[in-house]
Amino acid sequence: MTESSRVRLARPLIGAAEEDALLDVLRSGMLVQGPVVARFEEALAQATSRSHAVAVANGTAALRLSLCALGVGSGDEVLCPDLTWPSPAHAILELGAIPVLVDVDSATWNVTAEAMAQARTPLTRAAIVIDQFGNPAPTPEIAAALEGLPLVVDAACSLGSRYQGAPCGSFGDIACMSFHPRKVLTTGEGGACLTHSTELSEQLRVLRNHGQSGPGVFAAPSGNYRLSELSAALGCAQLLRLQDIIAERQRLTARYRDELPSGLTLQQTLPEAESNQQTLGVLLPPSCTMSDRDRVVADLIAAGVESGRLSFALHTLPHLHLAKRNGAYAAATAIATRGFALPLYPGMTNDEQSRVISALATLSGGLF
Ligand SMILES: Cc1ncc(COP(=O)(O)O)c(C=O)c1O
Repeated sequence: MTESSRVRLARPLIGAAEEDALLDVLRSGMLVQGPVVARFEEALAQATSRSHAVAVANGTAALRLSLCALGVGSGDEVLCPDLTWPSPAHAILELGAIPVLVDVDSATWNVTAEAMAQARTPLTRAAIVIDQFGNPAPTPEIAAALEGLPLVVDAACSLGSRYQGAPCGSFGDIACMSFHPRKVLTTGEGGACLTHSTELSEQLRVLRNHGQSGPGVFAAPSGNYRLSELSAALGCAQLLRLQDIIAERQRLTARYRDELPSGLTLQQTLPEAESNQQTLGVLLPPSCTMSDRDRVVADLIAAGVESGRLSFALHTLPHLHLAKRNGAYAAATAIATRGFALPLYPGMTNDEQSRVISALATLSGGLF
């Protein structure tokens, strides 16, 4: 199996427009804190129907700064989905607060309004909702059930998705995005906080820049969470082709839904939601174990098809022992145990997708 014949799990769509945009920045001699970040922020705010976008170094920084701007601190409880890459829980713990883990719905893989309201206590200071793999969570319903509790939407994966006709990133007090190369739009590393609040956007700008409220005026001790001009230039070029990227992902996902073996389960989208299909996640049948899943992933890789585990059930991670548990987490456990991701990216050929589908059918070994 040669490197070039391997079907990649993910691959950003980078072309001449991105190369030209990067060269323009290099030739300008201005690599940080210049006009391109501001231009990217304006375009992002427009794409998500927000008054303000604050570009930052990555999605994890966006979460941390958002919680900080909302006043989350030592001893506060913050509601957090149990099923996720651990960034939201890390951001909460780094501020001295306590993640309260909430199970997800077994069909949409997102938290529900009922589960979030049930996990709330008098110590709850804020909540994080995730649009899992780009699939919009019912955030307006969750916000209503939480009655004014500050809400951060982890929209790391959901740029370009829509819920009830509105773009993801437009919900919650602050929405956080990631522009890692596995996301629908990439800046290499990168992220953004999106909000309607001028006050929150100003705090976020202070927090991302060493806590400076003006040159050399320090309002708070904070780190350097800025996005570079080079990254922002990539982002501007990528935003212009966002609709094409999403249409391609939706087309590829539709074929997977039609042609994958029927014993596999895929994520469901609510009737009023449209997903950008950031990740193609698949679950083995309920009779399968984690070692069955690991074997299928290893067999796919040996057959030249990149694959990997889908996500994590945070309550099972030993380093998150400070997180507060709240129930049995049946759905998150099932998805983390039996879930794996399949290749999906704009530019994937018909032949590559056929190879993924037939590799899975061949390797099933009677599992599905
Ligand atoms: C749901 C979610 N939140 C946050 C992040 C963190 O984003 P970043 O890698 O840009 O820090 C990720 C990354 O995969 C994610 O999936």
